[in-house]
Amino acid sequence: MGSKGGCGCCSCLCGCLFSCLLSLIFQILFTVLVILALAAFIFWLLFRPNEVKFYVTDASLTQFNYTSNDNTLHYNLALNVSIRNPNKRIGIYYDRIEANAYYQDQRFDTETLTPFYQGHKNTTVLSPVFHGQQLLTLGSSEVSNFDSDKNNGIFGISLRLNIRIRAKLGWIKIGHFKSKIKCGLDVPLTSSGTSSASPFETTRCSFDL
Ligand SMILES: *[C@@H]1O[C@H](CO)[C@@H](O)[C@H](O)[C@H]1NC(C)=O
Ligand SMILES: *[C@@H]1O[C@H](CO)[C@@H](O)[C@H](O)[C@H]1NC(C)=O
Ligand SMILES: *[C@@H]1O[C@H](CO)[C@@H](O)[C@H](O)[C@H]1NC(C)=O
Repeated sequence: MGSKGGCGCCSCLCGCLFSCLLSLIFQILFTVLVILALAAFIFWLLFRPNEVKFYVTDASLTQFNYTSNDNTLHYNLALNVSIRNPNKRIGIYYDRIEANAYYQDQRFDTETLTPFYQGHKNTTVLSPVFHGQQLLTLGSSEVSNFDSDKNNGIFGISLRLNIRIRAKLGWIKIGHFKSKIKCGLDVPLTSSGTSSASPFETTRCSFDL
């Protein structure tokens, strides 16, 4: 009898513990879901089409030589990248901005830009400079593309930004979000003195999701 009662008491205690645990788990799950939904909402606010906009507004290319005997590219490229945050309430911390320059799908330089905070309804201009030399192994068709770009005086260079941001809404900060931005540029080479035939045109970048 004693053992029977003890058993009943134990099962009652266990049942209570179990239901407490269950409700705790549900509360945690619910909180996690709410946070995820909020984060997704803010991400959507920022990155739905026509929200934060990236443009390359200016490009200056003063050197772009590829020599196939040593597979080396010598380059000097300066860009102005304009970032517009049109949101009325959300500010953005750009915690990491990595700017990569590609020619014919090969990366020739990476610059890490200074982190910054961008208030709501604000525009920031970044000025990455890619200058140096890089080993690039271009195949024969890529070398002929290079030669035709050189004859035209315009090089197809692509800028890819990898960014990590946090969003600030009032006193709430949410992050990190990662995003990739891609800008396909036609950059005229301006050798000393001679300005090239067609000037650089402002180019809108797209999200590379
Ligand atoms: C970028 O902007 C700066 C400051 O507005 C300007 O001096 C520079 O000529 C622009 N162009 C490039 C390619 O950096
Ligand atoms: C790049 O090409 C120009 C003109 O062809 C030449 O004057 C310059 O020395 C070259 N630079 C390098 C680093 O090869
Ligand atoms: C944009 O940010 C700059 C630098 O933080 C600030 O001086 C300027 O007042 C801001 N502009 C607007 C419209 O908030």
